Amino acid sequence: MPATKTGLISIKTDGDDKIEIVNQLLLPHATEFIEIKSIDDAHDAIKTMKIRGAPAIASLAALAFAADLSRALKSSADFVASPEGVRAYVTPVLAHLYTARPTAVNLGAATRRLTATLDASIVAGKTGQEICADLIAEAHKINDEDVGRNKKMSQWGGDWLADVVKQNGGSGNELNLLTVCNTGSLATSGYGTALGLITYLHETGKLGTAYYTQTAPYHQGSRLTALELQTLDINSVMICDTMVGSLFQHHNIHAVVVGADRIAKNGDTANKIGTYNAAVLAARHKIPFIVVAPISTVDLAVADGSGIPIEHRPPLEACLVRGAIYPPPSDAATNAEQAVVMITPPGLKGIYNPSFDVTPAELITAIVTEKGVATRRAGEAVFDLSAVV
Ligand code: MRU
Repeated sequence: MPATKTGLISIKTDGDDKIEIVNQLLLPHATEFIEIKSIDDAHDAIKTMKIRGAPAIASLAALAFAADLSRALKSSADFVASPEGVRAYVTPVLAHLYTARPTAVNLGAATRRLTATLDASIVAGKTGQEICADLIAEAHKINDEDVGRNKKMSQWGGDWLADVVKQNGGSGNELNLLTVCNTGSLATSGYGTALGLITYLHETGKLGTAYYTQTAPYHQGSRLTALELQTLDINSVMICDTMVGSLFQHHNIHAVVVGADRIAKNGDTANKIGTYNAAVLAARHKIPFIVVAPISTVDLAVADGSGIPIEHRPPLEACLVRGAIYPPPSDAATNAEQAVVMITPPGLKGIYNPSFDVTPAELITAIVTEKGVATRRAGEAVFDLSAVV
């Protein structure tokens, strides 16, 4: 059985007010931790993608919110004196955090959960100080519970997939999977979702090879997933985004596993741009397509994928690649000197840069959450996720 290695860390806290995140813009060539000292720091880090991945941005927003309130309590800020004072302070802060990125619903789920805590504590007749304490505890829970649920869904999904492969005449071992983007420790509070499932199969000796796309234009695959798989010593192969069809034609791929930024009630799923391409090709090759995400990613208020807001990133981001200078300018064994390089003519007009696409439910074989594995009923093109949430 392969040795289990520890994954990377996206967020460090001292359990009190100090929060640090690894600057994912500089990975994999430099590891720089940045301190998040305010709500604005958190908002900026999420918006500029120093931290990214739906669960990780929800965790950071919650922790920054908790730290902000904790500082207010320590300094006996005026608003703490009354429940309505707390509401007046907290409501715009949560609304502001919610605007940092629009597609990942986990951020909204976290801010709504904190608003619900606020309402419940006020109705219970608590003092301003007690309400702040409740909010701080709830915010920490949002971060703390992530790793446990990631491990659960990884196990549910990994065992289920191995069984499906066995039922179809395979051994259920040496499973070859393709993933898109980065869904590991860096995208969550730890272990990961789709990458968690891959890690679980590796830990239980059932993984063959994990293939992953580079994931242009931000290269979450070649920069972040590559680093995570290397750190965990997982057998893996990187492919360019354009090679998915070729991979399916020439290799025995048992499943595509991806994360999600928002899942509509019918199962339509928004995830990193390029996921839909992989799903269409998987359907053509009769390869199971599995979405792994926490329940907080399911948005029952959105009936289908047409209602999911899709973030478009600044056009310039699609014109740039970032990385280390190669060959290294010195003889240094590690090359941390960073460069951002423009790959288009300067001043190029007309750039399409949606950050996510929507994979219709009919192309999805299973949606795995911490509650188990949901599949579509025979003959149905959509999921009924209201039964799962
Ligand atoms: O733009 P990003 O890097 O935040 O996009 C991340 C993804 O699309 C992930 O697949 C998704 O958030 C799931 S992370 C566990």
